Amino acid sequence: MRFDVFTLFPEVLEPYLHSSILKRASERGLAQYYWHNIRDWAMDKHHVTDDEPYGGGGGMVMKVGPIFASVEDIVGAPPSCPVILLTPQGRLFTQTVAREFAQQPRLALIAGRYEGIDDRVREHLVSDEISIGDYVLTGGEIPALVLIDAITRLLPGVLGDPDAPQKDSHAQGLLEYPHYTRPADFRGWGVPEVLRSGDHARIERWRREQSLRRTWERRPELLETVELTKEDRNFLEELDVKRKA
Ligand code: ADE
Repeated sequence: MRFDVFTLFPEVLEPYLHSSILKRASERGLAQYYWHNIRDWAMDKHHVTDDEPYGGGGGMVMKVGPIFASVEDIVGAPPSCPVILLTPQGRLFTQTVAREFAQQPRLALIAGRYEGIDDRVREHLVSDEISIGDYVLTGGEIPALVLIDAITRLLPGVLGDPDAPQKDSHAQGLLEYPHYTRPADFRGWGVPEVLRSGDHARIERWRREQSLRRTWERRPELLETVELTKEDRNFLEELDVKRKA
């Protein structure tokens, strides 16, 4: 899968895309990351990429011309792939949205900066607007990396364990169960006995219950949309009964 990021600060992206799992994914040819400096498409002498807002008011607005020119130059006109604008006004990014984007062979991501971006970009160039949460960052670079990371993990072959994306928190609509590794005793704090029992059926049931319990405690609204077995429901009912007692 190919990602093209359009930004005024490409140096922010590079170290993260060249580390860890993303680095390995690109070395293995499973993902390709390209970043493009929008400034390179600003045709005036000073390569200006922002200007004062029509109608007055403070702040600067990213100009429409360089953004169109950069995106059209790289992904074509009309664009040959989805063009995503990272903005706090977009639809919320979730694991479900990550899975949806992971089906695409290519994505273009526009990282906005400053107070805003000329709205004609949103109206006439962009196919999707995505927010990574209800807070405002200085720019869309970190949100673009968030999308790239979450999507790359889902690409076949990227993670060593092919079932790993299925086990992640949120993968099945539940938070993940707790993990432990050696030592078995740290400052007197042990590891749940069941994990050292070697009884895989018991371990699996324990993990499922821990997932359910954590979700019930921390993000109960997630339980409304997740598929639950009869056993799961009994377990959650018990938790409710105990809480009321
Ligand atoms: N740009 C600034 N804040 C953002 C957010 N929360 N999500 C996506 N893009 C952004």
